[in-house]
Amino acid sequence: MDHFQYKKGGLHAEDVPLARIAAEVGTPVYVYSTATLCRHYQIFDEALSGTDHLTCFAVKANSNLSVLASLARLGCGADVVSGGELARALAAGIPARRIVFSGVGKLPQEMDAALDAGIHQFNVESEPELEALSALASAKGMKAPVSLRINPDIDAKTHAKISTGRAENKFGIAWSRAHEAYAHAQSLPGIAIVGIDVHIGSQLTELGPFRAAFDRVAELVASLRAAGHGIERIDLGGGLGIPYQPDQPAPPLPSAYGAMVKEVASDLGCQIITEPGRLIAGNAGVLLTQVIYVKDGEDRRFVILDAAMNDLLRPAMYDAYHGIAPLIEPGPDAGRMTADFVGPVCETGDRFAKDRQTTTLAAGDLVVLRSAGAYGAVMASSYNTRPLVPEVLVHGADYAIIRPRIDVAALLAQDQLAPWLA
Ligand code: LLP
Repeated sequence: MDHFQYKKGGLHAEDVPLARIAAEVGTPVYVYSTATLCRHYQIFDEALSGTDHLTCFAVKANSNLSVLASLARLGCGADVVSGGELARALAAGIPARRIVFSGVGKLPQEMDAALDAGIHQFNVESEPELEALSALASAKGMKAPVSLRINPDIDAKTHAKISTGRAENKFGIAWSRAHEAYAHAQSLPGIAIVGIDVHIGSQLTELGPFRAAFDRVAELVASLRAAGHGIERIDLGGGLGIPYQPDQPAPPLPSAYGAMVKEVASDLGCQIITEPGRLIAGNAGVLLTQVIYVKDGEDRRFVILDAAMNDLLRPAMYDAYHGIAPLIEPGPDAGRMTADFVGPVCETGDRFAKDRQTTTLAAGDLVVLRSAGAYGAVMASSYNTRPLVPEVLVHGADYAIIRPRIDVAALLAQDQLAPWLA
C-alpha cells in the first residue's frame, strides 16, 4: 500500500494533487510521500520487534537530506558506502552510533571521517582493507569496531547486476577464508571485532536465498565463537524486494522476513542489524513526467516523455519494470492503446516500457512512473546536458521542494575553460 492514489478523479500524493506539483514545479520531477516512507520503515522495523535490532536505511537507495531526516526522526539508522553518504547521514541527523559503513573500496580519508564520527561499525570486505583500517585507527589511538562481510556463495536469484553473494562477485571475504580473516583481524592493534556481515543482493523475491545465507552465517557465528572471537552483532544486509508489477507474485512481506530472521538469529544473542533500502523508499516515490509527443512509427506507437534514461536509469540498465499511470483517473469508457514509452535521449535504450497497454494518451498529458523512490534520483545524471530533475517531498496536504531544479546555465557553470582556451 502506498499513498499515491486517485481522489476526485486525479492522482494524488497523500493529499496533494500531483497536477498541482506539475503546474507549480514543472516536469519531470521526483515526488516522494512521507507517509509511505515512514510506514514502510515502521512495518520493517516492527517485523523485528522483540529482538535487539538496528534498522539501517541503505542511503544509496535515496540520499536526499529530507528523506534521511524523515527517517532519522523515527530512530532509523543508516548504511553508508562512501564518505559522501556518511556526510549526508550525519547532516540529516542520524547519530553516528546508528551508522554502519559498507563497501569494497573504502578510501583512507573516508575511513578517517568515519572513525572521527564514531560510527557503530565498519563492514570490512577484505584483508587489505582490515590492515589499512587498523593502521588509521591505531594512529588515532583507537580500535575500529569491525564486522567482516562474508561471501556465503549463495545465488540470490535476482538480476545478475544486483546479485552480490556468489563466490564470483567482488563482495565480501571468501567463505573458505573466513577463519583466517578473523584471526588476522584479531592480530591487528587497531581492530575490535564486533560481528559478522552478509548481503547477497537486491530485489530478492523469495525468502529461500536469504534463509540459506543466514543459516550459513549462523553456523559461522558458532564456529568463530568457538575459536575465541567475540561475535556480538550479525548484520544481514538489505535486499528484500518490492512489488513493481501488479500481475507478478508479490515478494514476501516484511513480517515473513522478520519471522524467518528471528528463527535463524534469536538464539545467537546478537544484535541484529539490517540494511533495507528499496523496501523503505521504492514505492514511496514516483517520477512525474509529461507526454511531449505521441508518434506513430512503422509498426508501433511511441509515447515520448520529458523524462529520460538519465533521470531514471533502471529500465535501461536492468530492463526494470515501472508501472505507468495517468494523472487523470481513466473512466470506464476510456480508450486504450499499446505503446512504447521513451525519453528524448539519443539512445535506443532510452525506453521506460515496451508494448505497454495504457489508456489513450496525447501530448500534454501527465503520467507517473511508479516505484521510483529507490535507485531513481540517486542514479540520475546530466547526460545529454539535461539538468538533474528536482525532488519534492509531500507531507499530508503540504509539499516542499527538497532539491530545486537547476537550469542549463548552472550546469554549464560546473565546467571551466582551460586557461589556453579562455
Ligand atoms: N546493503 C548493501 C551492502 C548493499 O549493497 C545494498 C544494495 C543494500 C544494503 C540495500 O539493498 P536493498 O534493500 O535496497 O535491496 N541500483 C539497483 C540496486 C543496487 C543495490 C546495491 N546494493 C537497482 O536499481 O535495482
